[in-house]
Amino acid sequence: MARSQEEILKDINYDESKVPVYTLPSPLDRPGGGRVTSAYEWVNRRRGEVLDFYKKEVYGQLPPRPDKMWFETLSVRRDALDNTAVRKEIRIHLEMNNGRSHSFVMLLYIPRNLREPAPVFLGLNFKGNHATTDETDVMMTGRNIAGELVEPDGHAVQVHRWQFRETIRRGYASATVCYHDIYPDCYSADGWHHSVYDLFYPDENAEEIHAHGSSISAWAWGLSRMLDALENEPAVNPAKAAVHGHSRLGKTSLWAGATDTRFRLVISNDSGCGGAALFKRCFGENLEAILRPVPYWFVKNLQQYINNEAALPFDQHWLISLVAPRPVCIASATEDLWADPKGEFLSGVHASEVYRLFGAEGLGTETMPPPDQPITGEISYHLRTGKHDQTLEDWLHYWTLADRLFRP
Ligand code: GCU
Repeated sequence: MARSQEEILKDINYDESKVPVYTLPSPLDRPGGGRVTSAYEWVNRRRGEVLDFYKKEVYGQLPPRPDKMWFETLSVRRDALDNTAVRKEIRIHLEMNNGRSHSFVMLLYIPRNLREPAPVFLGLNFKGNHATTDETDVMMTGRNIAGELVEPDGHAVQVHRWQFRETIRRGYASATVCYHDIYPDCYSADGWHHSVYDLFYPDENAEEIHAHGSSISAWAWGLSRMLDALENEPAVNPAKAAVHGHSRLGKTSLWAGATDTRFRLVISNDSGCGGAALFKRCFGENLEAILRPVPYWFVKNLQQYINNEAALPFDQHWLISLVAPRPVCIASATEDLWADPKGEFLSGVHASEVYRLFGAEGLGTETMPPPDQPITGEISYHLRTGKHDQTLEDWLHYWTLADRLFRP
């Protein structure tokens, strides 16, 4: 019998002394024996095995490419954000030869008067494009399975998570889509056939799709389609793309970074359980607590490890490793114990051995830094003072990392 969420929450551990003793399998060990010792072997042999493992056991397969994709410019404003940006709304159309179709709207800001195409941040939003900006003439997006707006009154409520004005001032473009429009996060099994999966598997039932897919894979796939659309924008440099996401969308940005190497910088903000945090620590949210309410975020197979994290033949440092040698940023917040800041830090520590194959340092330390003192290696980590959120302080760090990578 599955326990109620109330019972599950009662048993959540927030005591460091009760973290079980665990051993972390190294991503460098091959399943049949032997150990990867070079970047060549990692790239050409082991990375593919780890990626396939993740598709089978954690996030499922990404949907395939649609038969046809086209980008419809819905609006353009050349005087956006007090005349500093060009703002576009672009509908990304996905179509199949059998007539099925799906679409979602991307909000894009590009700095005006740049001499060269702008590097770009891209991320999914929770409450609709209209929630990310204080400009009132932006289209409301983000619909539930009944086709209704999820946040009809959500105008500008998450502006602080996006920081468009400062991002533009620093010479970056920024793009966003509401995650519900790719896969509606409806806390039931009804999302599948209202999501992009319905393009490809209309004849499979929810359980059949769940055997090979997940909403996190759908969202990550959506980020890649956003980048496809950005490849069509002359004022944006798609070779300088940073993917970012907060919380469940931070889990998603890591998976997007793992599955699409076009993302040159991968940022996960407070991604926690099923994101950067190590499962085996069972500190804060654990597999039972996440998989009971939202099983569809992950592929069905992950359920076999509920209350049995010790038996996991991997942990989330493998996910960070899949980004190597590209820079990855892991961000935590001091009051966000549910997401296990230390577990998020440790996955960076343990992924470092893969970065070292490339002559990079990775995180470069095993000591967790104090709050507000970022570590800025190829694997970077910071622990912001405060709550579960994505704030200006987090962005200050993201802009620094992007400056270093994209404007050396
Ligand atoms: C819940 C969930 C987390 C998730 C978070 C969010 O708290 O348990 O895993 O990261 O929602 O996305 O806001």
